[in-house]
Amino acid sequence: MPLLRVVDRDGIEHEVEAKAGLKVMETLRELEYGVAAICGGMCSCATCHVYVDPDWLERLPAAMSDERELLAELAHHERNSRLSCQIEFTKDLAGLKVTIAPDE
Ligand code: FES
Repeated sequence: MPLLRVVDRDGIEHEVEAKAGLKVMETLRELEYGVAAICGGMCSCATCHVYVDPDWLERLPAAMSDERELLAELAHHERNSRLSCQIEFTKDLAGLKVTIAPDE
């Protein structure tokens, strides 16, 4: 299975298996150090906020307006912020590196 690289809130990097076709959030919420994903992927809670490694940012489909609007409201919003529930993991994204954003 393709790997996803996840940096937790303590700065420790983990490699986890991620299934193609699932949202990145669906892999992250299973991890002890992952995301809460309270709204279940409805793009309304932002508790699945991650920072995408700059090397990968351009390889992801662009964020839709509802994602961009929600991200813009966050205190910890950065240029490479994304909502992991809006990123579909594919084989082409094997090795994708994301950092779990701080709690709001
Ligand atoms: S899980 Fe709520 S916005 Fe992503």
